[in-house]
Amino acid sequence: MTKVLLTILLAATIAGIGVRLAAGPKTITATTVVRSTAPTRAVFSHPLVFPPVNVNAHVSIGIDEACVQLLDGPCTNMWTYGGTYPGLTIRRPTGQRTDVTFTNNLGPEAGEMTIHNHGNHSSAANDGQPESLLIPAGGSRTYTYEGLEEGNNQRGKMQFYHDHRMDVTARNVWMGLTGLYIVDDPADPSTLPSGAFDLPLAIADRQFDAKNQIPYVFNPNGVTGDKFLVNGIYQPYLEVGDRKYRFRVLNASNFRTYFLELSNGDPFIQIGTESGLLPAPVTRSGMRIGPAERLDVVVNFAGELGQNVYLVDTLTGTQLLELRVTQHVTDDSSIPATLRPLPDIGEPSVTRNWSFDHTAGHWTINGLRFDPNRVDANPVLGTTEKWVFTNPTAQAHTVHIHDVSQQCLRRNGGPCYAYETMKETWYLAPGESIEVKLKFTDHLGMYMLHCHMVEHEDDGMMTQFEVVRANPTPKPRSTPAPRP
Ligand code: C2O
Ligand code: CU
Repeated sequence: MTKVLLTILLAATIAGIGVRLAAGPKTITATTVVRSTAPTRAVFSHPLVFPPVNVNAHVSIGIDEACVQLLDGPCTNMWTYGGTYPGLTIRRPTGQRTDVTFTNNLGPEAGEMTIHNHGNHSSAANDGQPESLLIPAGGSRTYTYEGLEEGNNQRGKMQFYHDHRMDVTARNVWMGLTGLYIVDDPADPSTLPSGAFDLPLAIADRQFDAKNQIPYVFNPNGVTGDKFLVNGIYQPYLEVGDRKYRFRVLNASNFRTYFLELSNGDPFIQIGTESGLLPAPVTRSGMRIGPAERLDVVVNFAGELGQNVYLVDTLTGTQLLELRVTQHVTDDSSIPATLRPLPDIGEPSVTRNWSFDHTAGHWTINGLRFDPNRVDANPVLGTTEKWVFTNPTAQAHTVHIHDVSQQCLRRNGGPCYAYETMKETWYLAPGESIEVKLKFTDHLGMYMLHCHMVEHEDDGMMTQFEVVRANPTPKPRSTPAPRP
C-alpha cells in the first residue's frame, strides 16, 4: 500500500469517518482511491456487549477455540475462556470460596496452559505458575480462591484472569485468553452506582489481516494493533441514562498504553484501583492506563440528555466508545467523601531494589532474564518489606507483583499520586522510580514479579520470589530412619 493511501486511511480513521477503498479488477493506486459516501461499516453502529457472567461457587470453563465476531465480515479465530472474548466473567461475593475448573480443549500446538487470577490473593499452588502445575492439552485443573486476606474478607475490586505460560504468555493473551473476575464486597459503600449502572470496560488493541484474523508474531519490543476493541467490540456504542455510572476499566492490551478522556471535557471521578476502593475519590480530567492496570471510575451524564459523549484515547486521537445519553432516569446513587481506608500493614523491615533493565539485548530485572530455577528474594511470611522499583530504560514498564497488594510510599522521591495509594500494577515511565511497601500474608511459596507489557515479560523481564517461614528454630538432629 502506498504511503499516500495510508495517510488518507489514517486521517479518515482519526476523523472517525468510515472509508471504503475502490474495489474491482484495477490495481489500487493512490490516484484511484475514492472516499465513498456509503461506508461498508458505519462507525459506532454496534452495541457494546458484556461477557456472560457466572456467580456460582463452582465454575467450569473450557479453554476453547472459537470464531468470534470482532469485526464485520469473517469472524476471528481465537483462543477463549468459554467461547467469548473477553471470556466468561466470574462475579463472586468476597469471603466465599470459589473453585474454577479449566479444561484445555486447544490442540497440542498451543501447549500447556496455566491461569493466573491477576490481583487475587491466591495460594502459590493456585496462582498460575508459569512453569509448573500446567494444564496439558486435553487436561483439566481446578484453581481454588478463598476470598480471604489475613483473616478478613478480600477487598472488593475487579481482577482479571489470563494465561501465564512461560515464554508464550503474550501469544496466548493476544489470541484471547483473558476474562474478568469481579469481587463484590458489602463493606464498600452501597450508594455507589450498582446493578445496570456498574459496567466493566476491557480495552484491547489487535492487528487484523485482510481475512480478519490476528496472527501473532512475537516482537520483544511489543505487539500492538491499529484497531481498538471495547469488550471485544470495535467502535461500539452504549445507550446510557442521564445519571451516574460506574465503569471498571481494564487495559487488556498486550503492550499499548492509553490516555483516556471524555470528549465533552467531563471528568472521571476515580474511586478505585486494581486493589479496591481508594481512601477518597479523586477527580481526574484524563487518566493514563498501562497494560493490566484497572481504573474504577464514576462518570456523571446528568444534564446531558440527547448528547453523544466519546471515550477517547488521546495518545492516538481515537474514539473508543460512543456513550449515547438517550434516557432520563432518576439517580439514587452518590459517592461518599471517604471510601475505604488503607489496611494497616505496619512498617517495612527490609528494603529490596528492583531495576527494570535492558541488558545484552533483552528486557531484564536487575540485569537478569527470567529463570525458573532462580529465586531472587525470600521474604518472610508475616513481615512487611519496602520494594523500590526503578526504570533506567528508555521505555515504560508496568510493574506487577503477585500475591499481595502494595501501598505507595514515594513516587520519584516525592509524594504518591492520590489515585495510586494501593495497587498491584504500577506504571513506570522512563527514568521514574517508585517505592512501595507490602506485607506477605497467609501464603508461603513462589510468586512472580514482572513487567506486564507481556512481550517484555516473555523476553525475560520477570523474576520470582519465595515467601518463607521465619527462621526455623533448628531442630535437634536425629538419625533418619531408613526408608522401607
Ligand atoms: Cu496479570 Cu503475572 O500477571
Ligand atoms: Cu516492560
